Amino acid sequence: MNRTEMTTLTDLNGRQVPSAVLAPVLPPCIGVFDSGVGGLSVLRELHRRLPTAALTYVGDVAHAPYGPRPASEVVARCERIVGHLADQGAALIVVACNTATVHAIETLRARWPALRFVGVEPGVKPGVARSRTGRIAVMATSATVRSARMRRLLEHHAQGVHVHLQPCPGLADAIEQGALDGTVLSTALTPYCDRIRAANVDTVVLACTHYPFVAAEIQRLLGYGVVLIDTAAAVAEQAASVWTDAQSLATPQLRVQSTGSMHTMQRLLLECAGFEAVQVDALAL
Ligand code: DGL
Repeated sequence: MNRTEMTTLTDLNGRQVPSAVLAPVLPPCIGVFDSGVGGLSVLRELHRRLPTAALTYVGDVAHAPYGPRPASEVVARCERIVGHLADQGAALIVVACNTATVHAIETLRARWPALRFVGVEPGVKPGVARSRTGRIAVMATSATVRSARMRRLLEHHAQGVHVHLQPCPGLADAIEQGALDGTVLSTALTPYCDRIRAANVDTVVLACTHYPFVAAEIQRLLGYGVVLIDTAAAVAEQAASVWTDAQSLATPQLRVQSTGSMHTMQRLLLECAGFEAVQVDALAL
């Protein structure tokens, strides 16, 4: 949305006449957000799938993790972020956070009917399709595990399948704090992976966008016979299907903004997300 500023101009007769100054028109972009760094795993796939699209990412690092927060607070934060992304020219919003999607996507769609929204959803359906034994696990925040959306997914796609739901409190926060490998990460992961191993599953759904960044350690702890499911590529595919080529730019733009610390974000952008020299801007929101 462009802001207008009222000012005055002098006409040919020397009279002052009111006039509106239009702020520069921003190119339409895809707005992507998460509670913190997790959504970069989705941003990476979006950039791969739509290399010429303008992308603006907001990590709400100052308020991460969303998992333990009451739903009303998460909805309020999502509304602030979407308002900001709309001001930045976003025409499509990718809610790159399972927790934000389960709590807020319906409210966001109702409040901004002119914007398109794509959310992330626990990959129960692909997990069930991939399993040979009919025993799968889902790793997610407690909020996602408890959500009505999760119940609906299980009812629709997991009839007759044993699903071990594994809440992982503290894990997204540890990743946010920079525990991408080493003992802090394995200490945070081990109790969850032990319970999943005891459930004897052959497929594990990563239903938090932070977790793909530590997939190697999850795989090591669960064993190499277990298949891990990440839906980031499917989300990017869905976003691409509602984003037309006409909205692409000759020179792609990638803007990354953080409401808090930039340390882990900068590290992930360089090390894992595969973006070179992307600056992270501070965002007061
Ligand atoms: N990336 C969020 C998700 O997919 C992280 C959770 C959090 O902030 O607690 O659920």
